[in-house]
Amino acid sequence: MQVKLIRQELPAVQTDALILPEAEGVQRAEIVAAAGAIYESGEVSGKMLEFVLLHGVAGFAAKRVLLAGSGKADKLDAAGLRRIAAAAVRFLKGKGVSEAVLALDAALATPANVAAVAEGLIVGVWEPDIHKTDKENKPKLVEAVSIAVPEAAAGLDAALEQGIAIGEALNVSRDISVEPPNLLTPTAMAERAREVAKAAGLSCEVLDENRMRQLGMGSLLGVSQGSAEPGVMIVMQYKPEKATSEGHLGLVGKGVTFDTGGISIKPADGMEKMKYDMCGGAAVIGAMQAIAKLKPGIAVTGIIPAVENMPGSKAQRPGDIVTSLSGKTIEILNTDAEGRLILADAITYAKQLGCTHLVDAATLTGSIVVALGTTSSGAFANDDALLAGWMEASKAAGEKMWHMPLDDEYRDQLKSVYADLQNIGTRAGGSCTAAMFLKEFAGDTPWVHVDIAGTAWLDDAKPFLAKGPTGIPAGTFVHLALNWK
Ligand code: BES
Ligand code: ZN
Ligand code: ZN
Repeated sequence: MQVKLIRQELPAVQTDALILPEAEGVQRAEIVAAAGAIYESGEVSGKMLEFVLLHGVAGFAAKRVLLAGSGKADKLDAAGLRRIAAAAVRFLKGKGVSEAVLALDAALATPANVAAVAEGLIVGVWEPDIHKTDKENKPKLVEAVSIAVPEAAAGLDAALEQGIAIGEALNVSRDISVEPPNLLTPTAMAERAREVAKAAGLSCEVLDENRMRQLGMGSLLGVSQGSAEPGVMIVMQYKPEKATSEGHLGLVGKGVTFDTGGISIKPADGMEKMKYDMCGGAAVIGAMQAIAKLKPGIAVTGIIPAVENMPGSKAQRPGDIVTSLSGKTIEILNTDAEGRLILADAITYAKQLGCTHLVDAATLTGSIVVALGTTSSGAFANDDALLAGWMEASKAAGEKMWHMPLDDEYRDQLKSVYADLQNIGTRAGGSCTAAMFLKEFAGDTPWVHVDIAGTAWLDDAKPFLAKGPTGIPAGTFVHLALNWK
């Protein structure tokens, strides 16, 4: 999808489809003059994401005019425009529109809105169909959209660039996440990270199992040992030319390319969904690509522990005790609580690499889905300032987060008789004890943990988003780095 800015009077714009956001109760004079009956019919209410497609409207050079409902005028923000832009290109899919123009009037043509629209357009056209072979009969997608802004609107170029970079970051994350688990092994995931790093000018190092054994990553290796596919630790690094901060941000993403549960095996029903257990890692790879393009003033390291959780004959058993990179010993009581085990070593490694602030994203627990459903990710933190930055970044990205508790009381559930820690607590508050487990490894380093088990995958398509991986929280990662304080 090509996205650019144009400055042109709307009636003169030649395009397959001119997309006009229209608030509730607003009637455009030009449309009233040419096709007033459409308003009289009551077909146009201006409600959010209501689309009415008109052909050959007198006075417009455009072949079609798409009235795009934008809801109450005083409620419309960047997040709303992101959805309108995404839903518009999805609405136009398969309608013979290869190129379109989306108009932002003087009130809407702000940098934040331009960035959101560019991002929405790019995210909106993405489809989870790369493995379908009948390319002929695929509905044709919109290939290019220009954002039309008033002549006087200035300072929008950087915003456009940011929106494009974040949209592409989300799609890279989704391209990786949508791959099936037979094709996206830990090794293949590392290969994808290498490709992204090479194209973006980032350094990328991949630790193999031998190296991880030398370093002492017993917690990750315990998970990986049940699979014929070797595990890896992927490290992507961005260093600013002129640093504006002494900090070093570490982004850590869970990369379980398939989670059978291991010996504590999951039920068969719905197990195919567990190919999504690497979405946190994919979001880190996507975010690193955008960070390389947008060049924030802070060093950022992306760390993805990638393994397959299988019940092979070498698999770890409930009752095993492993020694993590931190030196802490962990009693494994449930091999399905594997995400926290690989993240424990990744978090410790991030600190060893010099990260001063950490954010991890993981499809960590079923219980966060029970708590928050599919709307918000759960955010846990040991540091108020970093949490505040994260919440602000999440608003800018339009990726909802809900602050979850991490009280000391949850720690009691992780006391083991035989080791320093055990890897599960009781069923109640499962996402909180999982977060508490990670906190043991973050220690005093400011850290936010984001449980994306409910938000990383969309089970039913939305008007503005295809079914499948969402790319969340790649957008928030990028905004956090860009707005670092
Ligand atoms: N990848 C899963 C998390 C998950 C489970 C996401 C179900 C969506 C639906 C994670 O590795 C896991 O299996 N967690 C267990 C932990 C439990 C054994 C303490 C869970 O949440 O059930
Ligand atoms: Zn699991
Ligand atoms: Zn898992």
